[in-house]
Amino acid sequence: MGGAADAGIRAHPSSGLSGEALAPGDKSISHRALMLAALARGESEARGLLEGDDVLRTAAALRALGASVERDRTESGNVWRIGGGEWRAPRRPLYMGNSGTGCRLLMGAVAGRGVAAAFDGDGSLRSRPMGRILEPLAKMGLASASENGRLPVRIEAARRLAGIAYVLPTPSAQIKSAVLLAGLGAEGETVIREPVPCRDHTERMLEAFGADVKTETDATGARTIRLIGGQKLRATAIAIPGDPSSAAFLVAAAVIVPGSDVLVRGVLLNPLRAGFYETLREMGADISFENRRSQSGEPVGDIRARFSALKGVEVPAARAASMIDEYPILSVVAAFAEGETYMAGVEELRVKESDRIAAVEAGLAANGVKTESGRDWLRVFGRAREVPGGGHVATLCDHRIAMSFLVMGLAARNAVEIDEASMIATSFPNFFDAMKGLGAVIEAAG
Ligand code: S3P
Repeated sequence: MGGAADAGIRAHPSSGLSGEALAPGDKSISHRALMLAALARGESEARGLLEGDDVLRTAAALRALGASVERDRTESGNVWRIGGGEWRAPRRPLYMGNSGTGCRLLMGAVAGRGVAAAFDGDGSLRSRPMGRILEPLAKMGLASASENGRLPVRIEAARRLAGIAYVLPTPSAQIKSAVLLAGLGAEGETVIREPVPCRDHTERMLEAFGADVKTETDATGARTIRLIGGQKLRATAIAIPGDPSSAAFLVAAAVIVPGSDVLVRGVLLNPLRAGFYETLREMGADISFENRRSQSGEPVGDIRARFSALKGVEVPAARAASMIDEYPILSVVAAFAEGETYMAGVEELRVKESDRIAAVEAGLAANGVKTESGRDWLRVFGRAREVPGGGHVATLCDHRIAMSFLVMGLAARNAVEIDEASMIATSFPNFFDAMKGLGAVIEAAG
């Protein structure tokens, strides 16, 4: 799409979306596959890796740390070959772009490897809290320097890290994963307690690389994860499933555009990522899961979604961790529902790639949809089939805000325009092709 990457983009009211789409590789799993492979001895391979900007930054950072990371083009798709082993201090700061996951997980891994490294990122990442990672790592014995716990951050080479017992202060898989990756290189046991379980890809993938990780769930649903330090990882082959957080845009579009019937193939169906789909079903969406299977230790399946009449719901705080990246698109779906949708316990949205509560409210207001919010909640007043649209949305360089409002434009009365689309490539590089393949009308604003 000429000019799509750097100019305003407009999504037009579209008629019934139909056909099949493949969700891009899961972003969370792609980062972890590269990092664990770089920590393991020998050559690992990864298929289905998300080749989005965020993951490519992680690949570049791992090369700077001494791993070999190569992409082979084959007839059955790209295969990434990662040679791991010893790490060395990079000569320049590791530039992590827009990626909170890449940056935070790598801080943990670098700490565990006992090498020094500096980290930096773009304007959005520089505004996000890193203290939540540095604080537990400091308890393990890591010295680091930053201003106010923000990037740029410098991590000193840790001679000796000690395992810790740590209770996650917020249900963040990035904090959990950073502590686990540091714990892998620490002396003794690292024990993490998560009162509310969050995505467990690091635990699952550590096991796939031969580590012994023990998880217990108590009667309240809280989890305790135990990892003994000093374990060596064994190279392996990983097949990365499709990202449910990206599939969410395709499924949402099918549910709100009248006459749609869409199949999204190969999507990760990990229950700790499934909150959005559970919520859609409660709203009355016609979605079903087909062809369930297991892939590299993760549940996978195809999602069929059809246009549906929706009603507003209350989304409980306890579900937030399992759909934390899906609130912007859920808010758009909620605009097309009958009645109010109330989202509780969503304070973490304030420290994502943008303040997503503020960004969503501004975008919805620009398109004639009323909202209310507090520090940790958001309410959307649904307009069923009468969403005016016609607005111009500031994406604040946030990929999920951009995609959410393009989806809105497909089903609103009037086209919706966003200011910038280049950030979409961080998580869903073929978003435009996938959408157009289903019949969506999206074009450069001129
Ligand atoms: C991620 C965890 C979540 C999520 C992010 C990916 C991960 O962040 O929003 O997109 O891969 O661990 P938090 O850990 O900050 O909740």
